Amino acid sequence: MIIKKGKLPATPHTEFYAIPGVLALEMIHGSYGFSGPWSRKMHVRSYPTEQVKAPVKADFNFALQAPKESEVLQPYHILTGEMPYGGDALRARKPIVFGPRTVMSIIKPTAGFSENEYFRNGEMHEIYYVQNGTGTLHSEYGSLPFQPEDYIVVPKGTTYSIDLASKQAWFMLTESVHPITFPQHYFNKGGQATLMSPVVETEIITPELFAPRDERGDFTIFVKHNGGKVTKTTLGHHPFDVCGWEGALYPFVFPIKNHHGIAREIHTAPPVHQTFQAGNVPNNGFSLCSFVPQMEGWHPKDIPAPYGHFNVDSDECMFFCNVSYGARKGVIQEGSFTFHPGSTPHSPQGHAALKSTASRGKISARLAVMLDTYFESLTITTEGFKYCDKEYPLSWDDAKWESPTNETWEAESPTE
Ligand SMILES: [Fe+2]
Repeated sequence: MIIKKGKLPATPHTEFYAIPGVLALEMIHGSYGFSGPWSRKMHVRSYPTEQVKAPVKADFNFALQAPKESEVLQPYHILTGEMPYGGDALRARKPIVFGPRTVMSIIKPTAGFSENEYFRNGEMHEIYYVQNGTGTLHSEYGSLPFQPEDYIVVPKGTTYSIDLASKQAWFMLTESVHPITFPQHYFNKGGQATLMSPVVETEIITPELFAPRDERGDFTIFVKHNGGKVTKTTLGHHPFDVCGWEGALYPFVFPIKNHHGIAREIHTAPPVHQTFQAGNVPNNGFSLCSFVPQMEGWHPKDIPAPYGHFNVDSDECMFFCNVSYGARKGVIQEGSFTFHPGSTPHSPQGHAALKSTASRGKISARLAVMLDTYFESLTITTEGFKYCDKEYPLSWDDAKWESPTNETWEAESPTE
């Protein structure tokens, strides 16, 4: 969606003065060369190129390391709820799975960014999912408040900081070399979401642009690049010195429950839950799906639990925001992150298929985020493996599950 905030010249690349006598300077934030979505920003006095100290290697990085156990193909269950809180929202980023084009991390900070510290991802576009915590993401595009159950989409190259209003926060972050957008097939030729789409593009929340920060000083911008390396750069002026901008590339918030689920009489495959995509789906990139509360199938013989499956061209990751996901009941906890790599077949555990029949035609309470890559293998990191439920590969063993009586599965209906 193309939007405009603040003040800028009516005609691009023409003289403009936000401060009398000081020429405002134009900056294009572009993607796909000069051919993809872009935004035009007007900086009141200085280009965001004015480094006043030599760039140096930062004293932290987001290097990707795999444990030797990753050489054995297995499904993983990472208990991200057991990962400790600590650090600031910049340095607390912990990658848990990665591939050549995608990185997924958990961030559980107890503080926002330090004063005059900013971050720019120079190699990947980002999408945060807020499991808990409230705060504001500030960028040159303005201020974007967030709360639990929000997605925050941050294009590569955005300079930002995060303030926390809560004592801690819990984010699940996905990074992609490709821009992250709503699926293109949800849009008509005029660029609007169709009336059949589960997302409505006007339901995004965009940054509020305040007065430009026309300030001198040392402002540190940590830039991530080249596989998790971080370089410390220093600007001689405040990076949020924009008086106006217009375009289609900017950070925005989309609450997960603005994904309006589409139900069917019988079980529907996950593409109906797709909220975002990266790249040229299904040839590369990924689909990001939202499993929001919605009515289970109402066919008199419907089995609401999913079928066993493997999408051989996808590695599948799933973050469970709550435990109301029938197919994994008894296995998952809040923040469970399952990862089924390398065409690993997977299915509901135990007698979940039978038990799910009790939820026919009822509203589920589930909430989960799923990411399926296309033609990209992911690997678990050493940090992710540390928090793995080592029993998970055997969790489908029938011997572990007692046959339910009618009473138990009615009582344990995943929908209530
Ligand atoms: Fe799956």
